Amino acid sequence: MKIYAAKDYADLSRKAANIISAQVIMKPNAVLGLATGSTPVGAYKQLIEWYNKGDIDFSQTFSINLDEYQGLSGEHDQSYRYFMNHNLFHHINIKIENTNVPNGLAEDAATECLRYNNIIKTLGGIDLQLLGIGGNGHIGFNEPGSAFEKETHLVTLTDQTRQSNARFFSSIDEVPTHAFTMGIKSIMSAKKVLLLATGNAKAQALYDSFFGPVTPGVPASILQLHNDCIVIADEAALSLIREKTGWESVTYDN
Ligand code: PGA
Repeated sequence: MKIYAAKDYADLSRKAANIISAQVIMKPNAVLGLATGSTPVGAYKQLIEWYNKGDIDFSQTFSINLDEYQGLSGEHDQSYRYFMNHNLFHHINIKIENTNVPNGLAEDAATECLRYNNIIKTLGGIDLQLLGIGGNGHIGFNEPGSAFEKETHLVTLTDQTRQSNARFFSSIDEVPTHAFTMGIKSIMSAKKVLLLATGNAKAQALYDSFFGPVTPGVPASILQLHNDCIVIADEAALSLIREKTGWESVTYDN
């Protein structure tokens, strides 16, 4: 894995957008695995800016998102489909039919998971998977304790995750109890993984994930075994790694 230190969130976002745009330039019909959450918003804004300047063309690009709440339609302003449409897809020239997010209203969860796994296979796999990381080391909605060998599946959200997402809903009761998520196996089968982390709240998870044992207790720790994983983190998120390992430079390669 390679770790790149970013000066701040703007620097992190620019570096991430550079890697995503390089992927699209080198392979215009790339399959981008995309993520929601506050972390990637800056990178998406940067991509939109470069698209508006004429520097990137997404007309042949495909996307597949990590996860979606069960029970929310794509029009619900807290659904991840809505997030992606409004933070990226509606501002670039990706064809909306080439974008994929699990269907939160699917009648049968098992059928929806199978459909989603088949999309990934039909597209030939994910070229670049973008990830945030939870304060507990989760990736997608794969919470601590998730089995490493799962593909897309339905999860019961933990109280911690529901509470931390409650700020976006009018009350905790409105936060869905279940979500569809790509599994760790789906994420690990991406050709390249780009994980972003910003802020002190991610420092422990980042240290545990990349400098602790590989364990289902810290879902992102499996990425130590991925052969092309890039981490971009700002100084606040890197603070514990710096303190515990004595690493001082801007790139770390192992
Ligand atoms: P965040 O979420 O980007 O909003 O911090 C990341 C995550 O929980 O995976």
